[in-house]
Amino acid sequence: MDKFVIRGGNPLVGTIRVSGAKNAALPAMAAALLTDEPVALENIPDVRDIQTERKLLESMGAEVELGYGRAHHRTTICARSLGRPEAAYELVKTMRASTLVLGPLVARCGIARVSLPGGCAIGARPIDLHIKGLERLGATITTEHGYVEARAERLKGNQVMFEKITVTGTEDLMMAAALADGETVMENCAREPEVADLAALLNKMGADIEGAGTSTIRIRGVEKLRGARHRIIPDRVEAATFILAGALGGGDLLVSGCDPHHLTALFQKLEEAGVRVRVMAPDTVRVMAEGELRSTDISTEEYPGFPTDVQAQFMALATQAEGSSVITENIFENRFMHAQELVRMGANIKIEGRRAIVRGKTPLSAAAVLASDLRASASLVLAALVADGETIIDRVYHIDRGYERIEEKLRGVGAQIKRIGEILPRRASMLAG
Ligand code: UD1
Repeated sequence: MDKFVIRGGNPLVGTIRVSGAKNAALPAMAAALLTDEPVALENIPDVRDIQTERKLLESMGAEVELGYGRAHHRTTICARSLGRPEAAYELVKTMRASTLVLGPLVARCGIARVSLPGGCAIGARPIDLHIKGLERLGATITTEHGYVEARAERLKGNQVMFEKITVTGTEDLMMAAALADGETVMENCAREPEVADLAALLNKMGADIEGAGTSTIRIRGVEKLRGARHRIIPDRVEAATFILAGALGGGDLLVSGCDPHHLTALFQKLEEAGVRVRVMAPDTVRVMAEGELRSTDISTEEYPGFPTDVQAQFMALATQAEGSSVITENIFENRFMHAQELVRMGANIKIEGRRAIVRGKTPLSAAAVLASDLRASASLVLAALVADGETIIDRVYHIDRGYERIEEKLRGVGAQIKRIGEILPRRASMLAG
């Protein structure tokens, strides 16, 4: 298993580039299942979840070409025929977003079998809202042997009211409704930019969707969808992670290839914390850390509120701010696993249910720490960048799920970070011989 070795203390200076959004690319790839024509997607991030999605689509019979180059990261998916409309447990357990194929498969094939994802590190994360939504569109759902099976000759448009806001639930249903007979009106939808990006792709494919990005989405079902070409939006979570790294690192960092409109909640909190962020160009922001950081409370909410996916990274910043910051996690019930690791590095953090109270500023010192999930790992990287000494972060496969070569990008702006892999036993014996 790979580890990161990070020596803290270097200011970050220069330009760091943001990749395409993993959370927009995954539903876009699933959307390719809705048509027998090729769907070409650009700005696909080179991260492990995309490889998992590729395996998932190929396991159903889709052809997936995936190419990463200096200038272009792209994929072309052609789901001409889908022999096996199924998402197996082996893939779903490594990536919950695999459940995004449920809606497209039942809409296109009339049947879908998708493994239930089970719990994950940050909470229970059920998919009951996806299931209830599909039932509203006329699907018959059975659950057996750990799999959800959905059947419908043709889905029928209907009113769908989400009891709770769900991002992938909104996306799953939107894809299903695109091929349904008649009109679907979905209320209390997620307003995330990734939902709007998916609707933009679906409309290019011939769908008739209005209102994506607001809480009411209206979808007039069509008989058939066609191939299309689409560029995935920038990753706002990766951008936020780099901006926070710049704020912590005490340098002068340009974060390019991002969309500042998607980062308003973060910018407001950074301003309160005393960090200067300036928009330099439509896709570039500059972060300058000047003077002491001030404590700031955050409370995670659905978009456009402060994103839960940036909570862990913000906690790393809070450890370096003067005073007490209260961080409230409202989206997932168990998303403070990074706090204990930050404490091992010298942070003063007390957890009270859904609230974490961070008292700063405490000097951080290097330690051996464990990455527990994707965004938690990112917070440990940020903490290590300002810690005294050499931090070793184990299980960085979590970070590879959603960050494209983060160590190379950070090294490019002055961080001292390297990846070390474990020598496999066979290779070790060859070296010894
Ligand atoms: C997506 C993002 C993830 C982000 C999350 C919240 C992708 C691939 N992943 O995950 O990075 O952290 O949004 O912004 O886009 N819930 C239910 N029943 C359901 C579905 C969800 O109770 O059927 C609950 C969840 O347990 C959670 C809340 O609703 O407490 C929000 O979850 P949801 O928005 O669905 O998260 P994901 O779409 O899985």
